[in-house]
Amino acid sequence: MSKSSKGMRVGILSAGGDCPGINAAIRGVGKTAIVEYGMEVFGISSGFLGMINKEYSQLYERDLSGILTLGGTILGTSREKPFKKEGNGLNQIDKPKLIKKHYKELELDCLVCIGGNGTQKTAARLAEEGLNIIGLPKTIDNDVWGTDVTFGFDSALWIATDAIDRLHSTANSHKRIMVIEIMGHHAGWLALYSGVAGGGDVILLPEIKYDMDIIYEYLQNRADKKKPYSIVVVAEGIKKSKSGSAAQYIGKKIRKNTDQEARETILGYIQRGGSPSPNDRILATRFGAHAVQLIHERKFGHMVKITGDNIGSVDLNEVAGKLRTVPPDHALIRKARKMDICFGDRKSCI
Ligand code: F6P
Repeated sequence: MSKSSKGMRVGILSAGGDCPGINAAIRGVGKTAIVEYGMEVFGISSGFLGMINKEYSQLYERDLSGILTLGGTILGTSREKPFKKEGNGLNQIDKPKLIKKHYKELELDCLVCIGGNGTQKTAARLAEEGLNIIGLPKTIDNDVWGTDVTFGFDSALWIATDAIDRLHSTANSHKRIMVIEIMGHHAGWLALYSGVAGGGDVILLPEIKYDMDIIYEYLQNRADKKKPYSIVVVAEGIKKSKSGSAAQYIGKKIRKNTDQEARETILGYIQRGGSPSPNDRILATRFGAHAVQLIHERKFGHMVKITGDNIGSVDLNEVAGKLRTVPPDHALIRKARKMDICFGDRKSCI
């Protein structure tokens, strides 16, 4: 056990949308902090709300046993954004001030913030305000700037791919077009990867502008080639002229403008639920352990990242406010195009 960090008090919270792997990360942070460094660990409830309301409990090693495989987060989460101005400013609670007050009262030496883009932005602001902060990137969207991958993504990819796999047989039986909507917010990572892994014929991403006429022609072309069905994978964040579900928007257009039958599936929150995949358990564990190493080194104001297979860290100021979207010329897209997968933008994909 290292002497120099003994007795340090570490707070940990999870914020934003949940995903598989958060508990594995809490366990990674907690066990490493307690066992290796003799630190004390405090679980903050419901994201930044717990810091505002001072809701927390100490986590002992025994509390961290048996949570590796659990989905969700044992700490709870919320989409609370403490720096967001609400209403007209009158009678407003100074949430950042409360967070700083409670950080002091809890005598924390560091606060580990597990979350996606919004969380890392808040984490950067808190670091600016003088708190010792470490960020851990999680989200099924895989859109946190500064890291190759976030945990949660791989588990969601398995779920989304399995769902697309299952559409093939029913689509084939009925000779239908199946449109499936995949989460990802403004990024198309999950739709791209599950679309390719699940054998999608058309994949629509927020990052690539699509033309419905190209899609109709492509689907007709498949029908002409006696291909009995088609799978259209749609990222929830695609641009569209009407509000509502992306899959319904695309499905309706296909029904109206082709003579083919189309059905929609909106996979929704199933993509965020359940036990983390082995890869996510490992990534979250590595991230958690590295976070504690950073605390031990007093390297605060950083977010843990992975580049290739190397775990490292990046300044939170570099991460804050940025979004990691799919480059339209991504290697997987280039390869997929060569296999006649349609991204809705080029005639050449027909
Ligand atoms: O960020 C994860 C995510 O599941 C996105 O894919 C989705 O757009 C969003 O969260 C849904 O947010 P909420 O949980 O607030 O409904």
